[in-house]
Amino acid sequence: MQANIVVLPGDGIGPEVAAAAVSVLKEVARRHGHEFRFEERDIGGIAIDRHGNPLPDATLQACKDADAVLLGAVGGPKWSDPNAKVRPEQGLLAMRKGLGLYANLRPVKPHPAALDASPIKPHLLTGVDIVVVRELTGGIYFGEKTRSADGASDLCSYSVAEIERVLRHAFRLARERRGFLVSVDKANVLETSRLWRDIANRIGREEFPDVRLEHQLIDSMTMHLLAKPREYDVIVTENMFGDILTDEASMLAGSLGLLPSASLGEGKVGVYEPIHGSAPDIAGKGIANPYATILSTAMLLRHSLGLEAEAACIERAVDAALNAKAFTGDLGGKLSTGEAAQAVIAHLPADCYVAELRD
Ligand code: IPM
Ligand code: MG
Repeated sequence: MQANIVVLPGDGIGPEVAAAAVSVLKEVARRHGHEFRFEERDIGGIAIDRHGNPLPDATLQACKDADAVLLGAVGGPKWSDPNAKVRPEQGLLAMRKGLGLYANLRPVKPHPAALDASPIKPHLLTGVDIVVVRELTGGIYFGEKTRSADGASDLCSYSVAEIERVLRHAFRLARERRGFLVSVDKANVLETSRLWRDIANRIGREEFPDVRLEHQLIDSMTMHLLAKPREYDVIVTENMFGDILTDEASMLAGSLGLLPSASLGEGKVGVYEPIHGSAPDIAGKGIANPYATILSTAMLLRHSLGLEAEAACIERAVDAALNAKAFTGDLGGKLSTGEAAQAVIAHLPADCYVAELRD
């Protein structure tokens, strides 16, 4: 198949991990006879420097026209003055909104070879396999903001339609998996959460009676996630709670460098990115872990291009590379970013070719 993939390397280690992931995608395309065209665009700090805008119109338009978007990371100390007029993160938020990407999927599945990298006791981690579905284009992130001499406010608001669409996405995912959905809110305090809970109950009852639905308050959920992570399957929550909960969940996997994500909307185009940031402290050294970005390309192949076999090839290759202890520094190894990507390519399963010959 032919596909146009927009690559947004961004800032810090973004360009390094994006290049590593593209090298894996190119090899998979070669083996399977696909023609992927890669088009690089600016976002974040580098876009502020070059265009005075963290999301130039040309970048957003290219993303809208693409089949999928692969993003590295945005942000860094150079642009982090809280009083600055524009910040790199605004580019990311505007892109999510501009592309209507309301469902952010963050899978967390600790790898057996990397359990020691987690601060959590290994016996709690075996068998953990969670997907957090984070609402991505509403809530306090996007409500009205005010600032005056004696105060400031951020409005948290959700429409029924915004809540319904992300909950349906999560229910469908739960149905494909273990049939268990945990919805996280703060219904003992927030009106938006009470609306969220009502809608979850209604959709569960009317459309997904086969999925077991449980509600958790965000504060107790942060404890349960560490104390009994194996009990969870699909977790759905609003934007801000999801932001916080997924950073916590990433610690189950030991390194932020292992966790991919997909941001999806109604159409096929999605944005795929590692959940780690731009890691300015190690930027430019060629030592960043590229696995999260490489695993994000697997999600890209699956969700935007419908190439399930190819996605599975990449996931199996990363799995095998980790089993072979092909580790970058964050996991206690010595491989460079490029060497880790090569390790994944070297472990691409042989039947990647077979699938091509069968076609
Ligand atoms: C994330 C990040 C972003 C967010 C920042 C960079 C705006 O933390 O993707 O989790 O808060 O959504
Ligand atoms: Mg975050």
